[in-house]
Amino acid sequence: MRKEDFVGFERHEYNPILRPETEKLLGSLILQHKPKTILEIGTFIGYSASVMLEKSDAFLTTVEIDPQNARDARENLKDFEGRFEIVCADAGQFLKQNNKKFDFIFLDGPKGQYKNYFPYLKKFLNVGGVLVADDILFYGLVGSNEPVKHKHRSIVNNLRTFLSTLQADEDFDTQIFDFEDGVSVSIRKK
Ligand SMILES: C[S@@+](CC[C@H](N)C(=O)[O-])C[C@H]1O[C@@H](n2cnc3c(N)ncnc32)[C@H](O)[C@@H]1O
Repeated sequence: MRKEDFVGFERHEYNPILRPETEKLLGSLILQHKPKTILEIGTFIGYSASVMLEKSDAFLTTVEIDPQNARDARENLKDFEGRFEIVCADAGQFLKQNNKKFDFIFLDGPKGQYKNYFPYLKKFLNVGGVLVADDILFYGLVGSNEPVKHKHRSIVNNLRTFLSTLQADEDFDTQIFDFEDGVSVSIRKK
């Protein structure tokens, strides 16, 4: 289904949905790694979840804070009934209470929280598993030396901390892709 046909698409003037190159990368990682269990942080209306479900036979758990988005996503994913659960909650709370393991994690929720989520995500990811984080370069501001406007400063600083922690972590092999809004792909080695 085209993303424009997703229930709820028209409600949002600015649609924070997976962009084309990131979608290709995510799809090929799913095909390559064949996860059995996937965790997604940030469902929105279910587009990226549909991409991951379509390309795998995995069970997907996805977390979304906004109840209307969660309802729309449930409707949009009805063809995958029985293969997903949508947890309508704050991802930070969910991560504190969860103790499941996953083969693949797609992190696409609040950018300023990635660094706080990372220790939990690491604990939940099986060895050999993949952590993909979207929008890590935040409109190019994360890698830039230009002064950052006050309203973006804490997100940009938090993303910088997230990326340096990820790249320094010897349990992961991490690659950064600087197309679109930037994506990191980290394979858990040990
Ligand atoms: C970039 S969008 C996700 C897009 C989706 N993954 C896709 O590509 O189709 C980010 C989503 O995270 C949700 N979100 C923001 N803060 C959150 C939080 N603290 N806990 C859970 N979800 C959150 C937003 O409501 C929004 O729907």
